[in-house]
Amino acid sequence: MELNKQNYKPIVFSGVQPSGVLHLGNYLGALEQWVQMQDKYNCIFCVVDYHAITVKQEPKELGRRILDVVKIYLAAGINPAKAVIFQQSNITAHTELAWILNCAVARLADMNKMTQFKEKGGEKESVSVGLYDYPVLMAADILLYNTDAVPVGDDQVQHVELARTLAQRFNREYGQVFKVPEVAVRKQGARIMGLDDPSKKMSKSANSAANYIALTDAPEVAAKKIRRAVTDSGSEIKYDVKNKPAIANLMTIYSLLTGLGFKELEKKYQGKGPAYAEASVGKYGEFKKDLAEAVKKFLIKFQLKYHSYSGDEVKRILKDGARQVRPVAEETLKKVKEKLGIN
Ligand code: TRP
Repeated sequence: MELNKQNYKPIVFSGVQPSGVLHLGNYLGALEQWVQMQDKYNCIFCVVDYHAITVKQEPKELGRRILDVVKIYLAAGINPAKAVIFQQSNITAHTELAWILNCAVARLADMNKMTQFKEKGGEKESVSVGLYDYPVLMAADILLYNTDAVPVGDDQVQHVELARTLAQRFNREYGQVFKVPEVAVRKQGARIMGLDDPSKKMSKSANSAANYIALTDAPEVAAKKIRRAVTDSGSEIKYDVKNKPAIANLMTIYSLLTGLGFKELEKKYQGKGPAYAEASVGKYGEFKKDLAEAVKKFLIKFQLKYHSYSGDEVKRILKDGARQVRPVAEETLKKVKEKLGIN
């Protein structure tokens, strides 16, 4: 894709940190939605390495992880002929704009409201200034490209709202430069919960690997995680988030992977619970067995694609992505500097 102005489509921007394994929650909550967006919009997908280093990363691994994220994008179906994929640190305008926003419009009162910082930084003894400033860098990412919509999981909504606030404040105080972006949260699937604890989001930083299914997990390991996932009391397959949060979560995964609706799933497994309650597979056995198969099938296909890309191919995609976005970012930064009188 070339970001051209003649053929105007709304601009969609989002990012993923190269800071660890990506899991099924990332795929179902975000990546899958991005893939659908690339035909309708000018999509820009960023590997946000400067966000990743807000917490300590192993230098030997970070480089590989950046390439791995791109491979995940590609395996998920993002097509570099339709969407731009680039690495944040290749475009210096991101950190420049972040600094300008820090000074011109971001205020301690805004930052102190950010709940993710409180959660991430909360327990740790040594917290980087960068982690505190993380939402401002994210605002810079978004605002550089005249972004119309930002698809994110619900944990990032507050950050996109901050980007809106900073854009509006800048426009008001220094003159019109930024487009004010909309947040686009996917309703169902935006929140895939942990397999060992359905009260918390599936997370790569969970204490146990039983919490998540990594997109790079061996398919058989992933199937086992599903079979061992916690369930609720009773034995009926019923979508009831309040009373059956674990089953509702598994049903969401099932539904998103197979296209079967909740009602269809309820019907499919009606009466199948109790008969299996005594069997070695346990309650919900049949349901879990089928879901485990669906997950396995999905991963086998996904990983076949994932492994088909070479490092050189990925580097070439990143280079080409940077070439496409750089002029847009530089134009925005230039306008900002002019407004501040430092161009
Ligand atoms: N903070 C986002 C996350 O961890 C990643 C991110 C960085 C992002 N910059 C962005 C997402 C810009 C959307 C737009 O999920």
